[in-house]
Amino acid sequence: MDAYWLDWLNLVLRWAHVIFAVAWIGTSFFFMWLDASLEEPGRDADREVGGESWLVHSGGFYRMQKYRMVPEPILRGLHWFKWDAYLTWITGALLLIALYYLQAPTWLVPADGPLGPWAGVAVGLAVLVLGWLVYDRACRAGWLDDGRVATLAGLVAVGALAFALEQVFTGRAAYLHVGAMLGTLMAANVAMIIMPAQRALVAATARGERPDPALGARAKQRSVHNNYVTLPVVFIMLSNHFPMTWGHGWSWAILVALVAIGAFARHWFNLHDAGRARAAVWIPPAAVAALVALAFVSQPRATSTSTDAAAVRFAEVEAVIDRRCVSCHAAEPTFEGFVEPPLGVALETPADIRRHARAIYTQSVVTDAMPIGNLTGITPDERALLGRWYESGAAVDTAAR
Ligand code: HEC
Repeated sequence: MDAYWLDWLNLVLRWAHVIFAVAWIGTSFFFMWLDASLEEPGRDADREVGGESWLVHSGGFYRMQKYRMVPEPILRGLHWFKWDAYLTWITGALLLIALYYLQAPTWLVPADGPLGPWAGVAVGLAVLVLGWLVYDRACRAGWLDDGRVATLAGLVAVGALAFALEQVFTGRAAYLHVGAMLGTLMAANVAMIIMPAQRALVAATARGERPDPALGARAKQRSVHNNYVTLPVVFIMLSNHFPMTWGHGWSWAILVALVAIGAFARHWFNLHDAGRARAAVWIPPAAVAALVALAFVSQPRATSTSTDAAAVRFAEVEAVIDRRCVSCHAAEPTFEGFVEPPLGVALETPADIRRHARAIYTQSVVTDAMPIGNLTGITPDERALLGRWYESGAAVDTAAR
């Protein structure tokens, strides 16, 4: 497909994906909160009401009541919450195809990596399917019943998967596939476990029977898993903006740390909603401290010593950028599939290079985010040269031309 139309497809799918995800997360947070904040029902409440809560919003008062059973005619008018989950997954899957699979040589597999584009796509799809099969088996076997075991297993799985994928994918594609896999588990939990349990619940209620509590318990477990995964997945979906994470030598460990911090932050919401805010006051400062500590320990080390500096001439820097970057980063790119400079970054003149010096350093020295997929085959020596140039003051010598 033409690059211009792919960009519009990207725009539309991404916009829709974010909107559905916001709606899904919104309802999920709302119901978690509601469940946690129910109080004893008022004396006038129906016999089947187990708890209730009064809310005020947008100039109206709302009385929420949670029923154990409802009369048959009510069942037909029930509102189900599932399309926000399904549509989040569907738009996400289409976005994955449009970006990472249709443009696999650019985004998915590095040019100097072990996999070709189609093999990369096959690995990506296998991760999504196998991830669900393994997780679902583990839940059914009862291995994840203990919350601590589930947390530990989840973090180990995230680290191992990220590490394995980094061997074959670009850094950002590796992160994104961990996120896509977790998102797939969340949507599959809704479609395959939570919805069937709810249908059985409704069917039993319609027959006037008490529903099987095991069904409810299983749905609840999956819903708790989804709840803890929400914040980490949101980070991973935004992670392409942060090459200092996926472009780092220890990127898998950084991902484990960020996922743990995200899940931990979600734990605070849960305790807070359940009226245990006091017991949880230490969590937000601890999460912030963990983020700061992570930023410190993952700080890039300078790649050169200042004594090498004198050896770098600007003309050499310009030559590397010309050879490895300008085919895409020009007002009129010559690289196939590019119609304008990516993110508006052109690197054609010394003034351009001066303006973007820091970004050039972070994108192609501190991390190997650029050239994207190493499509132009930059060498380690050339990266080191750019590093020495930046670290010795990034002098731009316009007169040298
Ligand atoms: C094959 C095309 C291609 C080549 C070659 C290439 N880039 Fe890029 N560059 C891109 C694309 C695509 C993006 C946008 C990435 C995104 O959307 O996250 C980008 C983004 C950037 C950005 C902005 C990053 C940001 O998030 O603000 C910088 C800086 C950059 N490239 C520097 C370089 C440097 C330096 C080189 C050469 C060493 C280079 N690029 C080579 C395609 C390329």
